Amino acid sequence: MSVDYFNLPPISHSPYGESNHTIVPLLPTIYPFDYAHGLRHLLPTIYHLLPSNAIISSIMTKPVILTGIRANNDLTIGNYFGAILPIIDMAKKHSGDYQINMFIPDLHSFTTPIDHTKLYEQTINNAKLFVAAGLPIDNQNIFMYRQSFIPAHSELTIILDSFTGFGEMSRMIQFKDKSNSVGADRTSLGLFNYPVLMASDILLYNAKYVPVGDDQSQHLEFTRDIAQRMNSKFNELFVVPDSVKNQHEFFGKDQGLRIMDLINPIKKMSKSDDSGRGVIFLNDNPVIAAKKVMGATTDDKAKINFDRDNQPGISNLLEILSLLQGVTLQSVTDQFKGQTNYGDFKKVVAGEVEKFLTDFQKKLVEVDENTVITKLEQSERDLTPIANATLSRVQQAVGLRPNTGDITRSEG
Ligand code: TYM
Repeated sequence: MSVDYFNLPPISHSPYGESNHTIVPLLPTIYPFDYAHGLRHLLPTIYHLLPSNAIISSIMTKPVILTGIRANNDLTIGNYFGAILPIIDMAKKHSGDYQINMFIPDLHSFTTPIDHTKLYEQTINNAKLFVAAGLPIDNQNIFMYRQSFIPAHSELTIILDSFTGFGEMSRMIQFKDKSNSVGADRTSLGLFNYPVLMASDILLYNAKYVPVGDDQSQHLEFTRDIAQRMNSKFNELFVVPDSVKNQHEFFGKDQGLRIMDLINPIKKMSKSDDSGRGVIFLNDNPVIAAKKVMGATTDDKAKINFDRDNQPGISNLLEILSLLQGVTLQSVTDQFKGQTNYGDFKKVVAGEVEKFLTDFQKKLVEVDENTVITKLEQSERDLTPIANATLSRVQQAVGLRPNTGDITRSEG
């Protein structure tokens, strides 16, 4: 059958063909339990490295909330408010009801060029930042791990690549923006199939909720597409994550956030920005960060008003202030109603930024690196059989492994 990758029809008319299977009801499968149990018999020498059955059972019973933050540079307040805080809020308030997967996509971290001598250190630093931001790593429902330490991520990606259209990847906004700025010859294949690896990150663990900033919404939609496409062709292999709209409702205000660059407020604040003048990094000297705020681009309207189209700079500062003060946008806008002096307004924002960074950095130095590494290694041991179980289902479905008759996924 020839496949028109450039003009993918809707999922229900997938070019890869309709499922030959009847959709079976979802069973509360306990395959990881069996999987680890089997492994224990096969590999007695690594018995002690495998997760306990109790942990595996508890892992499989809760809906999964998952997010990842690359280690390509120091993190920004955009990463903090867009991805770290929403999941940590959930972890603190509802860890009993959900499984929380917070990971570092280290393979994604060099899809655009980086200084490789710093990657490993930056990976550990990210993990420490999660802890400083409040991730309670002593909780057994919370997992913190590195993508490349669980090889199933890469293996699933290679399989899903063959069910992904070239045209569909070429249309990804992040790919188009980044590749346009450096040209085709300097654009890596890693950047091209970035969304497929991201889909694997999510689908391996049956994640239902994925807090990400607004720039990642298209990748999340692709994850849903590829999951539905595979489910339709091969029976119910994957849990399809909730729609972006449902995710916004689930996480509330911080989901779908886009903190803008201070100097160029129509562009996302990005950790890979070369000059860093419009970016507040979590490890910025707090006084320097406050100065960056004072130098933020505004306008000549002399009106403190939330209007992204006509006053992007002021709107961005209002958004940052509302996040730092933990109050609604409406309430910060009301605080400054009628005021015309941008200098006074910026001083308030700068003061809040300085205070936030001072507190955060104090917490960061208190994080014990050994505890963090122990948690990473433990989570990687615990989650490897879960990821492998999903991979094994897919391998069986596509015919790489003999079908053992149990390729139905568990409920997410
Ligand atoms: P990364 O490291 O580029 O960004 C990490 C998270 O931070 C959010 N973000 C922002 N949010 C608001 N305003 C900003 N200015 C801003 N800048 C960044 C991003 O939307 C993201 O949520 N592809 C992911 C990493 C990843 C991933 C995954 C995430 C890989 N696999 C699986 C979730 C699930 C990314 O953009 O990383």
